[in-house]
Amino acid sequence: MEKKNIDWANIGFGYHTTDKRFVSNYKNGAWDDGVLTEDANIVLNECAGVLQYAQTIFEGLKAYTTEDGHIVTFRPDLNAQRMVDSAKFLEMPPFPADRFVEAVVETVKANAAYVPPYGSGATLYIRPYMFGSNPVIGVKPADEYQFRVFTTPVGPYFKGGAQPITIKVSDYDRAAPHGTGHIKAGLNYAMSLHAIVTAHAEGFDENMYLDAATRTKVEETGGANFIFVTKDNKIVTPHSSSILPSITRRSLIHVAKEYLGLEVEEREVYFDEVKDFAECGLCGTAAVISPVGKIYDHGNEICFPSGMDAMGPITQKLYDTLTGIQMGRIKAPEGWIKVIE
Ligand code: PLP
Ligand code: COI
Repeated sequence: MEKKNIDWANIGFGYHTTDKRFVSNYKNGAWDDGVLTEDANIVLNECAGVLQYAQTIFEGLKAYTTEDGHIVTFRPDLNAQRMVDSAKFLEMPPFPADRFVEAVVETVKANAAYVPPYGSGATLYIRPYMFGSNPVIGVKPADEYQFRVFTTPVGPYFKGGAQPITIKVSDYDRAAPHGTGHIKAGLNYAMSLHAIVTAHAEGFDENMYLDAATRTKVEETGGANFIFVTKDNKIVTPHSSSILPSITRRSLIHVAKEYLGLEVEEREVYFDEVKDFAECGLCGTAAVISPVGKIYDHGNEICFPSGMDAMGPITQKLYDTLTGIQMGRIKAPEGWIKVIE
C-alpha cells in the first residue's frame, strides 16, 4: 500500500484529516453496529448534552510501523478499559471494551496510508471519543450517545522532540479531590486551557499541577504523568487518586523493573523533594517521555543535573526500551502489542 506524500519529519502534533473514521450510535438502550464513514463532520442538536454540560470523554493511543514493516498498536485493551471507567463516572453507557479494540483496528486499517513509515519520527495518533448527543436542558445525563474513532498522523508533542523542556508550577488546580482527575473527561482539559495559555505566554512549555487540597504534592501536567529519577537511580512516580492512570507510566514501571532492573517507588511525592531528584520526565502517549530540564516555582528555579541539552541517562534508557518495544526492536511482554496488519 502506498503511503501518503506527507513530510513526516515536520508534521508536529496537529490534526490532519484522514480518509475514514468509525461511528457508532447509542439509542433506546443499545449501541448499533457502527460504520466507517468519510464524513469528518458531526451535526448535532443545539441542546445536545455534550454542548450544554460537557458530557464527553476520550482516549489517545498510537499506531506504529515496526522495524519489520507491520502496523501495530500498543496495549489498546487498557485504553478500552479506561474508557469504560470514564463512561461510568460520567453516567454514560460504556462502549464495550472488545468492540473498542475492533473499532480501533478497523479505523487504523482504513487509514493505513497515513501510518508514518518506520524511522520517520512520526506515528498515527488514534482518538476514540464519545459524547451525549440528544437534547438535555435539565442537568442530567443524555439518553443518546455517539462513539467515534478518528486518526491523525503526528510528530512530537513538544517542539524539539527529545529536547528538555521548562515547566512552571501552576497557580491553578487541574482536578479536585474526589473529582474527575482520574478519568479522561474533556472537562479536565477545558479546566487546563487558561493555565496552559498563561504558561505559554510566560515562556513555559507546560504546567506542573500540585494537589488541590494541600498544594504540597506533585500531581501531573495537563497531558502527562511525572517520572522522577533519584540520584541513586531509583524511579519515583506520583501516586494520587486525582491523576490519570497513564498507560505509558504503568508500562514504564514494568520496563524499569523487568527490563532495566531498577527499583520503582509509586507513592505520594512532595514538591519539596523534587529539588533532590537527578532527572525528571513527562510520560504519556502524546509526550512519550519528554525530559524536563527546569522547573520554575514562583521566582525559584529547580535545575536538574541532567541539564537542558539532552535527556538524563536513566530517562534515555526508559525511552529507548519503551520505544524499542513499540517499534518491534525489543521483545514485548505478552499481550502488549496488537498487530493490525
Ligand atoms: N495524564 C493526562 C492528563 C493525560 O491527558 C494523559 C494522556 O493520555 C496522560 C496522563 C498519559 O496517559 P497515557 O500514558 O495513557 O497516554
Ligand atoms: C495523550 O497523550 O493521548 C493525550 O490525550 C494527551 C493530550 C494532551 C494530547
